[in-house]
Amino acid sequence: MPAFVVVGSQWGDEGKGKIVDLLTERADIVARYGGGPNAGHTICVDDRRFALHHIPSGILRPDVLCVIGNGVVIEPASLLKEVGDLVAAGIAVEKNLRISDRAHLILPYHRGCDIAREEAARGVKLGTTRLGVGPAYESKAGRYGLRLAELFDRGALLDRVRAVAGMTRNACGGALPAEFDPPPETVAADYARHGEALRPFVADTAALLNARLDQGAVVLCEGAQGTLLDLDHGGYPFVTSSTSTAGGACTGLGISPIRVDGVIGVLKAYSTRVGEGPFPTEQDNPQGALIRERGREFGSTTGRPRRCGWFDAVVARYSVMINQIECLALTLFDVLDGFDEIPICVAYEHDGRRLETLPPNADVLRACRPVYEVMPGWKSDTSMARRFDDLPPAARDYVRAIERLVGCEVGIISTGPQRDRTIIRADGRIPVWLPTAA
Ligand code: GDP
Ligand code: IMO
Ligand code: MG
Repeated sequence: MPAFVVVGSQWGDEGKGKIVDLLTERADIVARYGGGPNAGHTICVDDRRFALHHIPSGILRPDVLCVIGNGVVIEPASLLKEVGDLVAAGIAVEKNLRISDRAHLILPYHRGCDIAREEAARGVKLGTTRLGVGPAYESKAGRYGLRLAELFDRGALLDRVRAVAGMTRNACGGALPAEFDPPPETVAADYARHGEALRPFVADTAALLNARLDQGAVVLCEGAQGTLLDLDHGGYPFVTSSTSTAGGACTGLGISPIRVDGVIGVLKAYSTRVGEGPFPTEQDNPQGALIRERGREFGSTTGRPRRCGWFDAVVARYSVMINQIECLALTLFDVLDGFDEIPICVAYEHDGRRLETLPPNADVLRACRPVYEVMPGWKSDTSMARRFDDLPPAARDYVRAIERLVGCEVGIISTGPQRDRTIIRADGRIPVWLPTAA
């Protein structure tokens, strides 16, 4: 019966891949509920590093079923490459992957539209991943999108591709870059071929998940992006085009809210953001550069340098509220090992007033100044700590300050990319099925 959601609680890249892979030790199924190739979830096992984009972060565990849900948008050629790379690395993908027949597809026209908009002189530049994710969700909401199951209806496919091409061209002001505007005949033929290659994986995944939940399976619902990138609850318009918050697990997988037993929020011990949009605690200075260097903060999907800054408790409190997070996983903790002092943003100041919650408008957030509480640094290596008590006192105080300011317990602390660089707190209010401390 139990389903748990793992949700990004900042602007994405919080280390969801590492945490999901870790928690999968106790799960039967891992199911991705949103986003698409814009996600990049990194998992480090021994000396191997995997960057997953569509495929759930449970795939490295041999007996765990991985589901790509209906809420995910798929770029078939890059998904097939992901599958091929994992198979070449000896991972049992064929046996363990299922893809929703209702998932929508990204076509070349969507990518062209994304790129053309980002390069247009006018309009809001969002700094998207330029992979066509936003326009594909637009097609879905506009009710002309192409779904995976339609690749098997050869008679209708060409007309459906023509419709997506035409509508996407219109949505983009009439013209797409030539490279991303191939003849529909070519796209229909390519996508029919991709469909055949994906056919063994395609399933009614909502039926599968509900049946397995009825049988008592533990399902981990893996979020992509983060709460501040959610289409409704994020910092609109500097967001992605899907529901990345915990609520998206129900719509993106086809399971009832009554099925969900708990939500685990993944939070970096500081903040990063990639792409445009306000970021109150950003340190566009040597401190930020040091975080970037120590945390290797470059995008797993685009390679772009991530903007870095201090921990923002306003953002974290908001995420806890929106997702009802009951256990936090605090990641990249080791990155802060070298700092003399570590500020935490506890509130904002705007127009002479103190704000404790996130304002709805991007312009207001941009004008907010962070109010900091400055914590002493610990200036020692935490990467080998395996229990909370192994951490130096100042590091424990930093964790406790976050718990106090955010109003949620930190059950997991990650001090390195590998599985064993993790503290599972025995005293934290962590769900019973989590791996226990060694
Ligand atoms: P995701 O999108 O939330 O899965 O996160 P990403 O994989 O895009 O980015 C997180 C990065 O931090 C990856 O390179 C991880 O290997 C790495 N990482 C995860 N946890 C830790 C940690 O505790 N310490 C350090 N130093 N790196 C970590
Ligand atoms: P994971 O799952 C960080 C950001 C983009 C851009 C905005 C919109 O790895 O945490 P899009 O291409 O989605 O239309 O871009 O969202 N973005 C992410 N940032 N991590 C991600 O995924 C992201 N997915 C999208 O940089 O600002
Ligand atoms: Mg990422």
